[in-house]
Amino acid sequence: MSITITKNAEETKKFASDLAKDLLNKPNKEKNAVVLALEGVLGAGKTTFTQGFAEGLDMKEDITSPTFVILKEYKIKAKSKKSKVKSHDKSLERFYHIDCYRLKDESDLDSIGFFEILKDPKNIILIEWAGKIKKALPKKYTSIKFYYISENKRKISINLN
Ligand SMILES: Nc1ncnc2c1ncn2[C@@H]1O[C@H](COP(=O)(O)OP(=O)(O)OP(=O)(O)O)[C@@H](O)[C@H]1O
Ligand SMILES: [Mg+2]
Repeated sequence: MSITITKNAEETKKFASDLAKDLLNKPNKEKNAVVLALEGVLGAGKTTFTQGFAEGLDMKEDITSPTFVILKEYKIKAKSKKSKVKSHDKSLERFYHIDCYRLKDESDLDSIGFFEILKDPKNIILIEWAGKIKKALPKKYTSIKFYYISENKRKISINLN
C-alpha cells in the first residue's frame, strides 16, 4: 500500500499522470482489463485525479465529471506509449471512465456493456464511486481511496488487491 498527501489539485493531477505513464509502459499480464477503483466522498478529488490520469495517457479531450454520462470511451494514442512497448501486443488501447454515482448497484452494469469492456486486456477502466459495484470488480484491481483532509489537502491511498 502507498499513501500520498497532495496539497492542491495540480499535485493530484501530477500524481495521477505519473501513475498513468507507469501503467502504459508495462504490459498488462492479466486476462482482463486493468481496473482502477476510485472511492471517496463528494469533492474528494476523484475526477481531478481522472483528469491528470488522462493527461498521462496523452489524451487531448477534456475529461469532465460525467453528470449524465455514466461511461465514456477514449482511444489511447500509440505515440503516448514508449517505442519498446508500442509493438507489444499486450499494450493498452482504450481508456474508459465510468462514474457509478447514479447507479443503484451492480445490476445496472450490464446495460452499459461493462462486462464486455472488462474482458479485454487492452482496456483500462477507471471507476469513480467503485464501492457501489464492488461485487462486479475483477479479482485483481487497484484500489485508490481519497480522503478529504482540508480545503486543499487530500490523502490518497493506493492498494493493489
Ligand atoms: N489536493 C487536491 N486534490 C484534488 N482536488 C483538490 C485538491 N485540493 C482542492 N481540490 C479541489 O477539490 C475539488 C475536487 O473535485 P472532484 O470533482 O475532483 O471530486 P470528486 O471526488 O470527483 O467528486 P464527485 O464525487 O462529486 O464526483 C476540485 O474543485 C479541486 O480543484
Ligand atoms: Mg467526480
